[in-house]
Amino acid sequence: MLHGKKIVLGVTGGIAAYKCATLVRLLVKQGADVRVILTKAATDFITPQTLSVLSKNEVLLDFFDKDFNWNNHVHLAEWADVLLIAPLTANTLSKMANGACDNILLATYLSAKSKTIVAPAMDLDMYKHPSVIKNLSTLKGYGNEIIPAESGELASGLVGEGRMAEPENIVSYLEDFFSKGLPLKGKKALVNAGPTYEPIDPVRFIGNRSSGKMGVALAEELAAKGAEVTLVLGPSHVSITNKSIKLIKVETGDQMYDATLSGFELSDIVICSAAVADYKAVNKSESKLKKQKGAKAGDRINLELEITKDILAELGRRKKQQLLIGFALETDNLLEYAKDKLKAKNLDLVVANWANEKGAGFASDTNKVSLIDKHNKITNFELKAKQAVAADIVNHILEMIK
Ligand code: CTP
Repeated sequence: MLHGKKIVLGVTGGIAAYKCATLVRLLVKQGADVRVILTKAATDFITPQTLSVLSKNEVLLDFFDKDFNWNNHVHLAEWADVLLIAPLTANTLSKMANGACDNILLATYLSAKSKTIVAPAMDLDMYKHPSVIKNLSTLKGYGNEIIPAESGELASGLVGEGRMAEPENIVSYLEDFFSKGLPLKGKKALVNAGPTYEPIDPVRFIGNRSSGKMGVALAEELAAKGAEVTLVLGPSHVSITNKSIKLIKVETGDQMYDATLSGFELSDIVICSAAVADYKAVNKSESKLKKQKGAKAGDRINLELEITKDILAELGRRKKQQLLIGFALETDNLLEYAKDKLKAKNLDLVVANWANEKGAGFASDTNKVSLIDKHNKITNFELKAKQAVAADIVNHILEMIK
């Protein structure tokens, strides 16, 4: 959920500031782009260098940097998808509630159009003080969200409410915040993608030219729309940038069969985009096959092959609540063959694409598809980037499950 999200993290001067190192690390690990602002008091508890290294960005401390260049808080506020202030001290809370603006964090807060989320941290009596309660309620009135302080042992040695929410809890709060209102929130999606390699011996295999790009783009689009995504990926060099996608790497058709079937039952949306090798060697050699003595160019050998299991057909047989989507990659009679596959494999939708049209098919970054549903309704799309094709397919799915 936090992949690609732009987060400005304001850190104010309380002992809980030391936990921001973990918070920044977790956010960055999830793929968020984090820019940190430290108040002067915060630098007594954590160094800008630490947070700069962890966030991979410069940390802002003042309206001007050391070379007297203006740190543009207006741009920063506009850039942010969310302004998170953690820990929020009673002092900064009071300033926020009253519109004070004596540092760059407060100026960014006043300029922010995106949501501000705060995680207060203070000693238990401070947290209970009527002025703090009033100021928190004023912030709520401004539309800000509060991640309540947690109970436990405090730095003072007292035990009670006032600890900053644990970094893990702040991260899950943000995940919920960003996934609210996403159309596939609560849905489980399973995608298989890429080629499969069927070994002949330890160094040779039967495979195909699939890159896995289309399936990876689909997995990322489903995740961006809020689905919990599992991607079963054959040997592919495509990198998965969305860290929330559960990745299961496989090599052979049998491994892809097992991984896809084991995730099928609990899934709501299942897309089989993998180019499963249609044949595998009947007898896989455990050691490298050597040429026979005296063998020369043009000599023939026989390799006995057997047909691999059809994963999609098996899913079609087991289908219950799942929306099942397959691909048909053809060089001839595209729509007819695609309709046959839709019926034969009990699909809800088939994505028909040409294998040999310029800019479409396996290795390319673009694709041109037609979608055919169970009622044989055909929707044609132009040639476009695989990410845009993935968006078209997922939008079509959203219409189907509406
Ligand atoms: N498929 C599968 N398991 C296989 C072969 C194909 O799950 N062993 C799936 C593919 O992921 C795709 C669909 O079936 O979603 C159609 O694959 P395609 O290779 O176009 O067709 P095949 O069914 O293999 O038939 P043919 O090769 O004869 O066109």
